[in-house]
Amino acid sequence: MANVLTQEQIDFYRQNGFLHVENALTEDEVDELASYMDEAMEETDGKSVHNSRNNGSYYRVLNQKVNTWRDHAGMGRYATHPRISRMALELSGANGIRLFHDHALWKMPQDSKPTPWHQDFPYWPMNESGALSAWIPMHDVDEHNGCMMFVPGSHKAGKLTGINLAEPENIFDFVKGTEFETRKPVIVPLKKGSLTFHNGLTFHAAGSNMSDAPRRVLAIIFMPDGTTYNGKPHLCTNGQNFVENEPLHGGLFPLLAKA
Ligand code: SIN
Ligand code: NI
Repeated sequence: MANVLTQEQIDFYRQNGFLHVENALTEDEVDELASYMDEAMEETDGKSVHNSRNNGSYYRVLNQKVNTWRDHAGMGRYATHPRISRMALELSGANGIRLFHDHALWKMPQDSKPTPWHQDFPYWPMNESGALSAWIPMHDVDEHNGCMMFVPGSHKAGKLTGINLAEPENIFDFVKGTEFETRKPVIVPLKKGSLTFHNGLTFHAAGSNMSDAPRRVLAIIFMPDGTTYNGKPHLCTNGQNFVENEPLHGGLFPLLAKA
């Protein structure tokens, strides 16, 4: 398959640790995905994992369901979407890209809290960095309803301590005295059909949702083929026989695109 991103976009991502891609999906695709995600969020059993309303303060940050693709074939079509997977492959520079997981990330209206500054990679059971997320809103997003913000170049800070998203530490305390402490974040409003990618090491955050509708987002997490398991418990690997320091592979982490 020919490249879907320009070299300029790839260079921007490598330098800044994030990328905004306009018109990555058509309006019809986003509407179809939104209706699948509404269904997936309502299902109460299956293999996906939903944090509940009873989970108080974290629910106010994110109403989150992990691995919707394992229950809902429509979600599977989007979590494995060929064009988005291809973009992830090109940004990663790897020879192949695998799905790690998807999650619905809804920020509920009225009582929501911001998503604090954090890196994703410390939560993932991987030895090598390089995994990245596509963040796809079902509607326009801006500062009023919780769009994303990124600290450019912060993926070069390396792996820090994982932040508790419900009772957050200040990530900038971990980089005191470095160039990352004071670097100005970039706020990225998006039009429906557009998406962002961010490296698992990039500092990112989102404001609270001050609109009167849920902020509905699908995030897809991709990892370079050959990424190895670090042996730590994670809900995507729990109950499976993955061996420490061996590659994450197989049907739960399918290979989606190859160079
Ligand atoms: C959010 O959707 O508010 C946060 C997404 C992320 O942390 O990747
Ligand atoms: Ni994150």
